[in-house]
Amino acid sequence: MSSHPLEEPGVSSRFIDPCILVIFGATGDLTARKLFPAIYNLAREGQLPSQFAVVGFARRDKSNEQFREEMKEAINQFSRVKPVDEAVWKNFSQQIFYHRSEFPDEKGYESLGKFLTELDGRFGTKGNRVFYLSTQPKFFTTIAENLHKSGLIYDFHNEKQRWSRTIIEKPFGHDLESAHALQDELLQFMTEEQVYRIDHYLGKETVQNLMVFRFANSLFESLWNNRYIDHVQITVGESIGIGRRGAFWEEAGMLRDIIQNHMMQLLSLVAMEPPVSLDADAIRDEKVKVVRSIRPFSKEDFKQSIVRGQYGPGFVDGEPAKGYREEDNVDPESLVETFAAMRLFIDNWRWDGVPFYLRAGKRLPKRATEIAITFKHPPAVLFQTEENKNDPNVLAIRIQPDEGTALKINCKVPGPASPIQPVKMDFRYGSYFGMSPPEAYERLILDCMMGESTLFAREDEVFSSWELFTPVLEEWQKTEPDCFPNYQCGTWGPQLAEDMITRDGRKWRIL
Ligand SMILES: NC(=O)c1ccc[n+]([C@@H]2O[C@H](COP(=O)([O-])OP(=O)(O)OC[C@H]3O[C@@H](n4cnc5c(N)ncnc54)[C@H](OP(=O)(O)O)[C@@H]3O)[C@@H](O)[C@H]2O)c1
Repeated sequence: MSSHPLEEPGVSSRFIDPCILVIFGATGDLTARKLFPAIYNLAREGQLPSQFAVVGFARRDKSNEQFREEMKEAINQFSRVKPVDEAVWKNFSQQIFYHRSEFPDEKGYESLGKFLTELDGRFGTKGNRVFYLSTQPKFFTTIAENLHKSGLIYDFHNEKQRWSRTIIEKPFGHDLESAHALQDELLQFMTEEQVYRIDHYLGKETVQNLMVFRFANSLFESLWNNRYIDHVQITVGESIGIGRRGAFWEEAGMLRDIIQNHMMQLLSLVAMEPPVSLDADAIRDEKVKVVRSIRPFSKEDFKQSIVRGQYGPGFVDGEPAKGYREEDNVDPESLVETFAAMRLFIDNWRWDGVPFYLRAGKRLPKRATEIAITFKHPPAVLFQTEENKNDPNVLAIRIQPDEGTALKINCKVPGPASPIQPVKMDFRYGSYFGMSPPEAYERLILDCMMGESTLFAREDEVFSSWELFTPVLEEWQKTEPDCFPNYQCGTWGPQLAEDMITRDGRKWRIL
């Protein structure tokens, strides 16, 4: 097995077993927008093993040729590098296949099994399998059970010659109880080691860099505690609305879709203690400790420190935009949130008393995901007074877009009057490394092929997060929001979110 991915600048040198990737839900949105562009880019960069094939599984009737053409179109539309390189495509397309069946139909898995064995013979893929469940969550157990019945999931402890791994798309459960139920069901057919719960935020370069930034630099780690840090803000903003995913969003909402999973991953990486090694479990042990240390929400928090919002009509980028309740497949009286903000405290030695403010919303003025660490003011003795303070130092880690890190420091303006002005030191991935970072799915698919699980969520991480947020969902179920919609498209969310942070004497960052 290779050394750890975070230790290496590139992955091409890492050893990857021959294998077949089977995508369930291969005619769906995620496959077209993310998965095939990712696999194509891996092929283009020579990162895939030479003995490789990919099989799409869905219920629509189509030939291999049709499926290949559709995937080529998708790559041309969504890939970070386009158009498709014809020389690469000529070979890669011959490794792409389509298998039609219904998820509940056992026979479809028997025929899949035979087909995969045939492909093993043609491509030398040695029986190794990645099953990617890019389907609605209600199918996860059905597919796992049918794969198991057809002998396609191997005995993890006794099969030494070949392996099978299953990638599970989000959401993993819709609350604590359902997450436990899903886990129990999956464990009837595979072991925890064979489950790869994807959280695509963990595949982003900027998110992986959080650990490197913290633990490969002595400069910041010594300041990374409640003595120097005033507060932390994490923002996940999107300018787009629900689009065609109205039916999905009505079941999900912002807390389930972004905060419970993606934002908790960001928060854990920012707040975790240094792991004892770069081993997957050592890292995940530290991450889960953070989530477990978050103070449970009190009755008072529900009134003051947790805010939900829903967008009404407004303007985004100068264009009129409709409100959430006017979107397709949305209840005109829907109470589902498209915005949430909250204040959390991590009750441990490092973070005692440091508030973490989280906000996530749809139809905000811009797309921006950022972690901002605001440092405490220096003593008010030389260049500032208690009443008239300089701007605090802020370390802003931009996750997307425009990936990079900026540090705001105070500086003397040249000249005799000596006014002090904040200035920014800015590192940008794109301009420094001369390339845009690879898509998260590229990294995650490759890691799963290598059996590297660091960048996938472990069961206890998922449960701890649901344990924290299920009471919020229950409380929201009990009490209707006051006045939805409560923010206009193109604004930074409801006034309540402003009030929440202003009450603490702080303000949201302007992004
Ligand atoms: N789309 C995104 O941006 C996104 C982002 C993050 C996570 N996810 C997660 O990824 C998963 C897939 O999302 P998606 O947006 O790609 O879903 P989708 O567009 O609705 O695609 C669903 C896929 O499942 C297939 N399918 C449905 N019922 C089937 C059945 N009974 N038998 C066989 N095939 C069946 C469909 O095949 P037919 O077309 O042949 O019916 C289609 O290929 C979900 O868990 C979602 O939460 C999606």
